[in-house]
Amino acid sequence: MAKKVGIITSGGDAPGMNAAVRAVTRYGISLGYEIIGIKRGFKGLLDDEFQRLTLRSVSGIINTGGTMLHTGRCPETKTKTGLNRAVKTINDLNLSGLIIIGGDGSLAAGNAFSQKGVKVVNIPASIDNDIYGTDETIGYDTALNTAVEAIDKIRDTATSHDRIFVVEIMGREHGFLTLDVGLAAGCEYIVVPEIKPDMKKLAQELTKGKERGKTSEIIAFAEGCGSSNDFAKQVEKLTGLEVRVSNLGYIQRGGRPTARTRILASKFGYAAMNLFHKGQYNRLVCLASGQITSMPISQVIKRDKKFDEKTLKLLRSLSI
Ligand code: F6P
Repeated sequence: MAKKVGIITSGGDAPGMNAAVRAVTRYGISLGYEIIGIKRGFKGLLDDEFQRLTLRSVSGIINTGGTMLHTGRCPETKTKTGLNRAVKTINDLNLSGLIIIGGDGSLAAGNAFSQKGVKVVNIPASIDNDIYGTDETIGYDTALNTAVEAIDKIRDTATSHDRIFVVEIMGREHGFLTLDVGLAAGCEYIVVPEIKPDMKKLAQELTKGKERGKTSEIIAFAEGCGSSNDFAKQVEKLTGLEVRVSNLGYIQRGGRPTARTRILASKFGYAAMNLFHKGQYNRLVCLASGQITSMPISQVIKRDKKFDEKTLKLLRSLSI
């Protein structure tokens, strides 16, 4: 009888999750496994919602955003009863283990399941790129390109009206996405939770920029810094200049994955299935210095990814 492996996408969706599901399924089947897709994140284990994935059921998804398995946040599995119920379903289904595709919540879940004896391999997927141990998460490059394209458009109207814009970027309590968006879109400033902004200095710099002939100035503002509307009002008050706000919101989570995202997702999916096959469980697949590697989940969840202040300095020095 073929060994069965469950696959789950959980937490916020990220473009490229489908490419990872495809890679795990196709490589897994070629190794002789049966692949069971759990629906709607961990909720599927509580509600008994699964589907057997075949070579053909993952056709035509490498180029699609979202997740064919659906996803969700499942607070129930954070409780003892919920976790036990999910583990029982895993045993009833005769699954040898789980491949979990998702962000930091999914990692915490992976850790909790592994402590219950479930064999787990995690694949990092989140537009926030906030997971320690991996230089990139699935979906990040796509969200980055979506946000940059949006800001390029905002730049047109900002320049035409000689306005300052505050553009709100997703990222939960981190500014990794905002930093790279800011650099790639030529933003004058970024505001991120990792570094408290000096409002007076920021206002002075914006005014100086105008004096140097800038026709528009764009501040990429990470959602984790609070209200972008309140921030914009403060900037308007301090500079006396006209400020508008644009919140990019959930468009950053959708759309066709970029080639880079698809390649990363395919490599991660393959690596995760390979780890599982070799009996190397309870690990997170990572990208480190261009190489696909892995780390124990227990080591990853205790650590925070470092914010790259050098890149922030570069952004500021190039936005004069
Ligand atoms: O983690 C991805 C993310 O999009 C964050 O950037 C954002 O803070 C959060 O998810 C939004 O979550 P929800 O889909 O539950 O509103």
